Amino acid sequence: MTALPTLVMDPFSIKLDLEEGVMHDAKNHLVRCASDMRGYYVDKAALEELIAEGNDPVHYEVFETPVPQAYGHLMYCVSRLHPGKVGDEFFMTKGHYHSIVGTAEVYLCLRGEGYMLMKTSEGRCKSEPMSRGKMVYVPPCWAHRSINTGREPLVSFCVYPAEAGHNYGDIAQEGFPRRIFERKGQCVIE
Ligand SMILES: [Fe+2]
Repeated sequence: MTALPTLVMDPFSIKLDLEEGVMHDAKNHLVRCASDMRGYYVDKAALEELIAEGNDPVHYEVFETPVPQAYGHLMYCVSRLHPGKVGDEFFMTKGHYHSIVGTAEVYLCLRGEGYMLMKTSEGRCKSEPMSRGKMVYVPPCWAHRSINTGREPLVSFCVYPAEAGHNYGDIAQEGFPRRIFERKGQCVIE
């Protein structure tokens, strides 16, 4: 059997700090700060206050060591979403569909407390709680966003088909039908 050119590469391994939510020697380190989240939260004034007075804190980080973005490979990352709120709304990731919409993703939560919020383009919306040891299966065609409702970082290890790609634009336009707030000390999905 002849291997496809895109599949030919040497095996490798990487070291993760599961507790801290860090991939050592990651080739890509994506950092999203509060100022990158304009347009995503209900309380726009609270976000501007956070940016100005909180010195534009880091919202979330994604660590990757990429593989070829080709059918047959698996892409993987460590996601580290910091704790906090914008007004009453818990810190969250932007969320995305995959560019190749018929591709799934697995999230294994390593630390923290929160939710995976998911929606389809037809408007169906589901949430799954996340805590250490919980695995969330995001099926094909579901946009997905993590939300940190705890007091420590929400850390996950994610795996998805390497050719999937990211579509942030549609979620930036559509948003999610539900949001997660702290109301009177309780976590509430509205
Ligand atoms: Fe994804």
